Amino acid sequence: MTDRQRTLILTGASRGIGHATVKRFSAAGWRVFTVSRQPFSEHCPWEGGAESHVQMDLNDISTLPATIADLKKRLPDGKLDALVNNAAISPKGPGGSRLGVLDTDLAALMHVYNVNLFSVALLAKGLFEELKAAQGSIVNVTSIAGSRVHPFAGMAYATSKAALAALTREMAWEFGPHNVRVNAIAPGEIDTSILSPGTDEIVRREIPMHRLGKPEEVASTCWSSSRDSPSSRSRSSGCGWPA
Ligand SMILES: NC(=O)c1ccc[n+]([C@@H]2O[C@H](COP(=O)([O-])OP(=O)(O)OC[C@H]3O[C@@H](n4cnc5c(N)ncnc54)[C@H](OP(=O)(O)O)[C@@H]3O)[C@@H](O)[C@H]2O)c1
Repeated sequence: MTDRQRTLILTGASRGIGHATVKRFSAAGWRVFTVSRQPFSEHCPWEGGAESHVQMDLNDISTLPATIADLKKRLPDGKLDALVNNAAISPKGPGGSRLGVLDTDLAALMHVYNVNLFSVALLAKGLFEELKAAQGSIVNVTSIAGSRVHPFAGMAYATSKAALAALTREMAWEFGPHNVRVNAIAPGEIDTSILSPGTDEIVRREIPMHRLGKPEEVASTCWSSSRDSPSSRSRSSGCGWPA
């Protein structure tokens, strides 16, 4: 246990699961630093949000070193208790259709990989010393689409999430000896704007409780995976299928 205020850096805080995660950690008294493409919204209810927000497009990977330097300066005592890599994109075709190999060019693939994968490795690398100083943890938000073909998630998204699961294992193995825990959570169908038209049918057919997961439910899993407890040792866990 510690008396100092705990710190979280979270990507993709502007809506959906990220927004719920800011609220969950803030409610528990953590200082939350957010990274998003959008400027901080004055409608957000949490205190100190504007000073704790860094605006960045994670696709613009060349600006990541400046963002990391900015975040390091803001961390009190140079300690980071948790990094939640939540931001992601899932590009769709017309009418929300699936984009396969035949529909995807190199630029589109690089965009998805920059946001969903490369930025995660570079953020973790850049913030490693701060995580080590706090004996902190990393949570990477993957997806069920990383381990099975999904009717709506496209090739770029699915393969980036499979690679993110592999990256999680690599980091857990590499960072574990330094007391930095690394976990992945793999949501199913969660009620956010990333969903495609037609998800209702999947919910009806495949989800035992016949309802979408809630962003707050995933936020709680991020929260419990970030806390230093015996149940949060490095592992991958699925969540978000209300069963
Ligand atoms: N919802 C689901 O059913 C589901 C299922 C499996 C996995 N997931 C995963 O859960 C995580 C959160 O998804 P969500 O459902 O909450 O999606 P969402 O509502 O679309 O939110 C995505 C977040 O990522 C941010 N983002 C996108 N591109 C960015 C960029 N280039 N630079 C910085 N931030 C960027 C968005 O910020 P902007 O405001 O800047 O766009 C937004 O805050 C993702 O990793 C997703 O793959 C979701």
